[in-house]
Amino acid sequence: MCFVFLAICLILFICLYKLNENYFVLCFCKRVRTIDGSKLEDKVCVVPGKVPMFGNNFDLIDMTPETIFHYSRNHYRYAKGKHYLLYFLFTAVYSINNAEDAAELFQSTTILEKSVLYKYVEPFLGEGLLISSDRKWFSRRKLLTPAFHFNVLQTFNDIFKEESLKLLKKLQHLQKDEIEINDIVTEFTLNNVIETALGVKLDDMKGSAQYRHTIHDIEEVILERIYNPLMYYDFVFRLFGRYKKHKEDLKIASNFSSKIIQKKREEYRKKKEMEKQQDNEVDDFGKKKRYAMLDTLLDEESKGNIDHEGICDEVNTFMFEGYDTTSTCLIFTILNLALHPDVQKKCREEIANIGDFSSLTVFDFNKLEYLECVLKETLRLYPSVPFIARTCVAETRINGLILPTNSQINVHVYDIMRDPRHFPNPTEFKPERFTPENSVDRHPFAFVPFSAGSRNCIGQKFAILEMKAVLVALLSNFEILPVTKLEDLIFEYGIILRTKQKIYAKLKKIEK
Ligand code: HEM
Repeated sequence: MCFVFLAICLILFICLYKLNENYFVLCFCKRVRTIDGSKLEDKVCVVPGKVPMFGNNFDLIDMTPETIFHYSRNHYRYAKGKHYLLYFLFTAVYSINNAEDAAELFQSTTILEKSVLYKYVEPFLGEGLLISSDRKWFSRRKLLTPAFHFNVLQTFNDIFKEESLKLLKKLQHLQKDEIEINDIVTEFTLNNVIETALGVKLDDMKGSAQYRHTIHDIEEVILERIYNPLMYYDFVFRLFGRYKKHKEDLKIASNFSSKIIQKKREEYRKKKEMEKQQDNEVDDFGKKKRYAMLDTLLDEESKGNIDHEGICDEVNTFMFEGYDTTSTCLIFTILNLALHPDVQKKCREEIANIGDFSSLTVFDFNKLEYLECVLKETLRLYPSVPFIARTCVAETRINGLILPTNSQINVHVYDIMRDPRHFPNPTEFKPERFTPENSVDRHPFAFVPFSAGSRNCIGQKFAILEMKAVLVALLSNFEILPVTKLEDLIFEYGIILRTKQKIYAKLKKIEK
């Protein structure tokens, strides 16, 4: 009897041992293998968790946005800059942190599906361009590409300049000595994104203050869910999260944009009828016609290529992607300019030669090469989107590995752009790295703040133009003096890179 029991135990043990070779049993997921059958650890760094037999599951206990930032940096150091692997409940997470390993992913035409992390933004963005996949993504990308064409940017340029002047006026009347940069910048970028997307001025709209708050609150809840793995499960979020408030906020945001879309749809129909008779360069009030992304979408709706829900998703995506990303980059650029008076002086010298602000064209802004180097160097050190993430919808071969279906891939853009092999003394702020002569031999995927490949950022030219406009306005009127110190900042890692503290600077009027 005892012998039979021992034999069963032994068989069970052998079966479990065999099973564990292919499945990480205590993580309930399949293991990653190598294509050539060699030992996994020779190909990729497998990072042990706090309790290694449970993979990395216990690492996540008590995680905060701040500790997640350090968690990722520690792995980078542990893996000595090589790609690495983590195992969580139900999934392996493969992380890439150098340009060479990122090449295969960026060039892939199959690993395009966004990661499970984007599930949190789905209630807000629906199937908008950022998270859609397959044919839907392809057709939407094709449909939206003309909305970012050079000619369109020229009409957006007027909006950016108008909003920059409005901001200047506000700053000139501010009595405060120290300015909270986050506040002024986010107001500016939200105004721009609303006007370029919907063709209305947010400040002129009823309920604009409530809308600003709502957008802010929606993002806060999304972040809360990202940082707390338990909140991934909808039932936990419903029971213990801010589900009710989030649902109400989503409704407010959706009603706000929906109403504008309805109104614009009516205008679009009337205009289409009138267009047959009159010059379409001028609108009813004799002003030069302004373009909004919504015009493209309504045009496509009339051809049956998108419906109302699709339009709402794209408008919200445009706002989500175009608002926080540029705000973050602008905040860090202003901080860098404050901390580097020599760089600031050089920018001002370059700006001095381009002419009167209100007459500046996209061509004029394109000539500001040094200012562009400053923006690029800021994005290199503080990428607004610090990592991008994909999901493997099928078993996936990449960099000599076979990732099981549902594995997640994280590309840590933050680490890629701090690689000393491509950017010597990587923590130093040196805009000169991006002059054409200093960029010649750089690896094509060493600088990827806008991602790369077919799912790269559709709004990158929009963002650079918008940021240049406001920086020109600021630098020609104010000297930016430092208040916040870099060493005091606590970084938080998420869909967007943030700091725990607000960033402050002093603005000293330049007497002309
Ligand atoms: C400094 C500013 C910006 C940065 C650093 C940035 C960065 C990125 C990155 C890294 C991605 C890829 C995300 C991923 O693969 O998960 C992305 C995608 C995207 N961005 Fe941007 N972005 C910026 C500004 C903008 C602006 C201003 C807009 C629109 C007005 C925009 C619209 C989008 C859209 C729609 C996508 C999805 C594209 C697709 O999947 O086809 N972005 N952006």
